[in-house]
Amino acid sequence: MEEVHLWRGSAEQRALRSRLGNLSRFAYFNRQLDYPDWSGQAVLDFGGNIGGLLRGSNRAIRPEDYYCADVLQEAMTEGRSSFPQAHWIHFNRYNCSFNPEGVKDLPIPDMGIEFGMILAYSVFTHTTREEMKELVEQLQARLAPGGALAFTFIDPHYTTWPETYQGNNLKWRLERARQLNPNLDIDGLLEQSRGAAWCALVDGTELFVNGNGEWNNKAVAQTCITYNVFYTVEFLQREFPLATIRPPVNGEMHHCCIIRRQG
Ligand SMILES: C[S@@+](CC[C@H](N)C(=O)[O-])C[C@H]1O[C@@H](n2cnc3c(N)ncnc32)[C@H](O)[C@@H]1O
Repeated sequence: MEEVHLWRGSAEQRALRSRLGNLSRFAYFNRQLDYPDWSGQAVLDFGGNIGGLLRGSNRAIRPEDYYCADVLQEAMTEGRSSFPQAHWIHFNRYNCSFNPEGVKDLPIPDMGIEFGMILAYSVFTHTTREEMKELVEQLQARLAPGGALAFTFIDPHYTTWPETYQGNNLKWRLERARQLNPNLDIDGLLEQSRGAAWCALVDGTELFVNGNGEWNNKAVAQTCITYNVFYTVEFLQREFPLATIRPPVNGEMHHCCIIRRQG
């Protein structure tokens, strides 16, 4: 089930949305950041949905120190009902699949605080390359001295589970998409992706190599059900030369890109 279907799909699909509050997010970032001291740190969970990071932190993050900013109004309402002491910010920015009615290029609101940690799990896997660069720059400016920004990305050519699945991450995604589109030419698309520095998959069927898709000339509709972007480690390192990039941990397919502000 694609995450976005849980919000924009049928009533039945939406009923499954609590599954999005994934409890493994905290363990993932805790390990990627070398088990930092979370106590008293203001944490921004950018694109944090209903707050799985907070839920899974087993009180290492206090609700009053937790800020979640997401384009999904409904997720903010649901998160707030579970953790009213935490801060839930509806960031009404356009996203072709999660918030197609949102405002294009809306800047991240001032939350009146600098953050010790800013985390974004599987957010820039659903935005254009330019948006990722722009939003990462804005987020960096919200770090407190000594703070860390960590966000995840998926390398299309990386084999995450070599012992049980020999395909790469893109193949895995295409195989999921084929459940909805049985005629999908997976081998053809993989051939196209060979050697790509990055690529974008629109609605699980259209692959754009080294490009976002035709968003600018509107050849592709401005809404889509799913939008998945993949970057190689080498490409992302070139985009963010000062970042440290770490391989996936805990059996997850996401690499982690970490940018620190000097203390
Ligand atoms: C795949 S979900 C991941 C949710 C959560 N981080 C997690 O790990 O469970 C992607 C989330 O990013 C949010 N999102 C997409 N574009 C965004 C943007 N420009 N700013 C903030 N959130 C965004 C979506 O609404 C959605 O909640």
